[in-house]
Amino acid sequence: MNDRDILGLDGRVALVTGGGAGIGRATALLLARAGMRVAVAEIDPARAETIRTDLATAGADALVVEADVRREEDVAGLFDALEGRFGRLDVLVNNVGDYLGFKTPFEHSSDEEWEALYAVNLLHIFRVTRRAIPFMRAGGGGSIVNLSTIEAFRGIPMTVVYASFKAAITGFTQSLAVELGADNIRVNAVAPETTNTAQIVATPRVPPANRDAISRWFPIGRFGEAEDSAGAVLFLASDRLSGWVSGTTVHVDGGALAAGAWMRLPDGAGWTHLPIIVADGYTPPEKWHDPLT
Ligand SMILES: NC(=O)c1ccc[n+]([C@@H]2O[C@H](COP(=O)([O-])OP(=O)(O)OC[C@H]3O[C@@H](n4cnc5c(N)ncnc54)[C@H](O)[C@@H]3O)[C@@H](O)[C@H]2O)c1
Repeated sequence: MNDRDILGLDGRVALVTGGGAGIGRATALLLARAGMRVAVAEIDPARAETIRTDLATAGADALVVEADVRREEDVAGLFDALEGRFGRLDVLVNNVGDYLGFKTPFEHSSDEEWEALYAVNLLHIFRVTRRAIPFMRAGGGGSIVNLSTIEAFRGIPMTVVYASFKAAITGFTQSLAVELGADNIRVNAVAPETTNTAQIVATPRVPPANRDAISRWFPIGRFGEAEDSAGAVLFLASDRLSGWVSGTTVHVDGGALAAGAWMRLPDGAGWTHLPIIVADGYTPPEKWHDPLT
């Protein structure tokens, strides 16, 4: 049995929203490697062109549509194009999502900000999924994967509204999984921790003097990469690997949720859940204060 037989995705059709960068792009390329025919919806023309070229170079049978999935008319056009080109849909990856740079105390957030965050994090998932279901049912079943965030499973200050809409994805995923089980359509979510992408350029935002703290923050001592989440999507896409997995979330987080606030001490000899910063980029290491002694 070769890799593609193990996955059972060869020749099946996937749609990835926001497939021009980050996790969506890595997912589109990985699903293509698994033998899938891949449709991508992407709002940014330059990113659409790049993923079109890269999927073609990879030998994929691909359709890249410039579309804003927040707009109903674009979603309608996307599904017309999908039907015309492939005539079926087996895997839907609702990947578009964005905190839109809002880091605001909740009491000062505006209605306009709430509506913008709703549109880009939840409304399009409803719209795209509603159109996908009849295609999947007609094809005998399918897999829907929604991109959530680890912030849907713990609190985050200053980003309350984004986290709220992402938490709603959990409810959507669970309830739709129940509703569609008899149609052999599975519905799951992937919840990444901080992952280096176009949207979150994580590593450069940590001062070089503090970068060793990254390895103590996550039990698996690094930030995520787009391919980490793409791997979880591939698992959930494949009926052969995850055929009895529905209504749940895979946390792609390097163990961060399990750790809670626990992290290794700088000398690696113990653990703390108190906030310690000993490497501040100014104090020489010989003057660092060990908070536990
Ligand atoms: N990167 C992280 O640390 C992280 C953490 C938790 C959750 N997530 C979630 O993972 C998903 C992907 O995040 P990412 O970091 O890869 O994002 P990204 O911004 O790097 O990539 C998203 C892609 O979607 C496209 N896009 C944006 N709005 C669109 C629209 N309306 N219609 C069509 N295309 C659109 C963008 O142009 C871009 O190519 C999101 O749902 C995000 O909330 C990311």
